[in-house]
Amino acid sequence: MKNKIVLTGGCGFIGSHTCVELQNAGYDVVIFDNLSNSEAAVVEGIEKITGTRPIFYQIDCTDKAAVYQAFQKEGPIAGVIHFAASKAVGESVVKPLLYYRNNLTSLMNMLEAANDFHLKGFVFSSSCTVYGEPDEGRNPVDETAPIKPAMSPYGNTKQIAEEIIRDIENAGVDFKTIILRYFNPIGAHPTAEIGELPRGVPQNLLPYICQTAMGIRKELSVFGDDYNTPDGSCIRDYIDVCDLAKAHVCALNRMVEGKSQDKVEYFNLGTGSGVSVLELINTFKEATGIAVPYKIVGRRAGDIEKIWGCVDKANNVLGWKAQVPLKETLANAWRWQENLRKKGVM
Ligand code: WQD
Repeated sequence: MKNKIVLTGGCGFIGSHTCVELQNAGYDVVIFDNLSNSEAAVVEGIEKITGTRPIFYQIDCTDKAAVYQAFQKEGPIAGVIHFAASKAVGESVVKPLLYYRNNLTSLMNMLEAANDFHLKGFVFSSSCTVYGEPDEGRNPVDETAPIKPAMSPYGNTKQIAEEIIRDIENAGVDFKTIILRYFNPIGAHPTAEIGELPRGVPQNLLPYICQTAMGIRKELSVFGDDYNTPDGSCIRDYIDVCDLAKAHVCALNRMVEGKSQDKVEYFNLGTGSGVSVLELINTFKEATGIAVPYKIVGRRAGDIEKIWGCVDKANNVLGWKAQVPLKETLANAWRWQENLRKKGVM
């Protein structure tokens, strides 16, 4: 009997790639997604890659009755990976209540369901955003780095979510939790059947680069080159989305096999190396032959200067390490963009 896993937000960028890796690892996958920021066609893409169509419920995780009906219908569930959340930093500043209501209500519903349906494990999709701007010399940040006041309501929902998880675990629930703090997920599946599909004008760097390379955008604005970094542009830890997805399999295996040491465990998921905006633009050219036109503009409000992760704990305890070279990740992202054009999507 295969272990069955619920992925909330499973039609999203990281969720869909995680579905593929879970199926490859022998899990049955059930997706809950309200399609507010994703497309049902992603389910077809997953099936094309793995040959197995995940069970799909178009439900909103803030709707507790719908969540419980789906759990009752599916029978024994071994674990949940909770991706479903609104995640646009800028939008969260303009619509804070939408973010607090959606991100926290959905989390609480899934935590209650995990307890009521006796799951073994709960994986929460968190973010390096919780660290804020690391103190000078504190990069690479490890999991003991101080949690700084959030720079946006989006970041605050991640911090509050982590606190809620700690509190319910201390209150005593039957399931363990692993909190995964992502650095900057980028790329697409090498088959180009699934990838990142931002709605409207992309907020994140690589989708904007790819759309500029495709001619959808005129030129890339680089938000500042006057930072205290070698080339003046901001530094991030860009992690391949397929590598990131595999880390979720390792986290679930750890809990399902009863290897978790603590009620709540935390893991940074990154490459352990920092890359600047200008370096990423140059590496994209090396990977694709395309020199993306860009201009230097003013800094973007809320941006931090530099952050990259210490990933020793994920390497040594989770048994996971990022493998995909940055050039290959960028080539995969470009191939996905070409496929979107071929399919007439954009
Ligand atoms: C990266 C760098 C920008 C766009 C956010 C969230 C994080 C996660 C990923 C959800 C920055 C620069 C960007 C552009 C640019 N979100 N940039 N021109 O802000 O590090 O992280 O998205 O899970 O939680 O905080 O990612 O890709 O927006 O920016 O110069 O058009 O690229 O200034 O230095 P960020 P990003």
